[in-house]
Amino acid sequence: MSDNSLGTPLPTEIDTTIAHEARVYDYWLGGKENYPADRALGDMIAEHVPTIKTMARANRAFLARAVRYLVADAGITQFLDIGTGIPTAGNTHEVAQSSDPNARVVYVDKDPIVLAHARALMDSTPQGRTRFIHADLHDPRSILDHPDLTGTLDLSEPVAIMLVAIMMYFSDDDHPQRIIAELLDALPSGSYVVITHPTADFAPEAMAGVKAAAESSGIGFHPRSKSDTGDLFAGTTLIDPGLVPVATWRPELTDRPVAVAEAESAWYWAGIGRKP
Ligand SMILES: C[S@@+](CC[C@H](N)C(=O)[O-])C[C@H]1O[C@@H](n2cnc3c(N)ncnc32)[C@H](O)[C@@H]1O
Repeated sequence: MSDNSLGTPLPTEIDTTIAHEARVYDYWLGGKENYPADRALGDMIAEHVPTIKTMARANRAFLARAVRYLVADAGITQFLDIGTGIPTAGNTHEVAQSSDPNARVVYVDKDPIVLAHARALMDSTPQGRTRFIHADLHDPRSILDHPDLTGTLDLSEPVAIMLVAIMMYFSDDDHPQRIIAELLDALPSGSYVVITHPTADFAPEAMAGVKAAAESSGIGFHPRSKSDTGDLFAGTTLIDPGLVPVATWRPELTDRPVAVAEAESAWYWAGIGRKP
């Protein structure tokens, strides 16, 4: 068990017999940190959405564009990346510190496999700083009060909260809007929230298949409409171009364009909100 600031125990043992969100995503991205149960669910989902691997790459590519924008154009040097996933190419600190070596990043994930790879996330520039917190976003205070967060980020200065491909694991009964509000309340004006979210808006039947497949493996999956995803940005102002299909959010900010044939072929909404 891993101890977070509130003493809430999170499992530290890696259970390979059931599919885990982080490892299924790693499989789609072409990583090696996945097991037969993860690949079986990944393939089951691909039967409903044959382009799922392209979508995962499009989501990941957005993350890099968003971080690049936030450092270079918005002057952000502090990031709280929740639902980090297994380290892969273009982790938040690598993108941020390549623009500003002073950037500081706190990563948070509930999955013990991410904890096991935390060393790769600690590979900071000497001027900057990175930390990993093993915690669950259902308990935002356990993140905000964690000594590794308060020792790394200056919460009197703006912070960008990254919630990239995580909020779909929260049902409405989990009150995702309240959780995000609690995070934003702890941050000053000029802070940002970055969200991508899968949606059934473009292909309802296929997404219903994804939901059923994920839930048959014990993973709650809640795609949201554009309007419901927009509600997650409450208390912020969406910056240009607003809430758009993930591949179309400022595509010019990439040095490695993803092959997404049509704007709407990656079924995630993506946006960045600024706290006024
Ligand atoms: C699909 S991956 C996204 C990884 C990365 N953000 C990206 O978009 O490339 C989702 C990650 O969220 C994590 N996650 C899911 N629910 C979580 C929770 N309640 N608290 C913290 N992490 C969570 C999973 O363990 C997984 O690593």
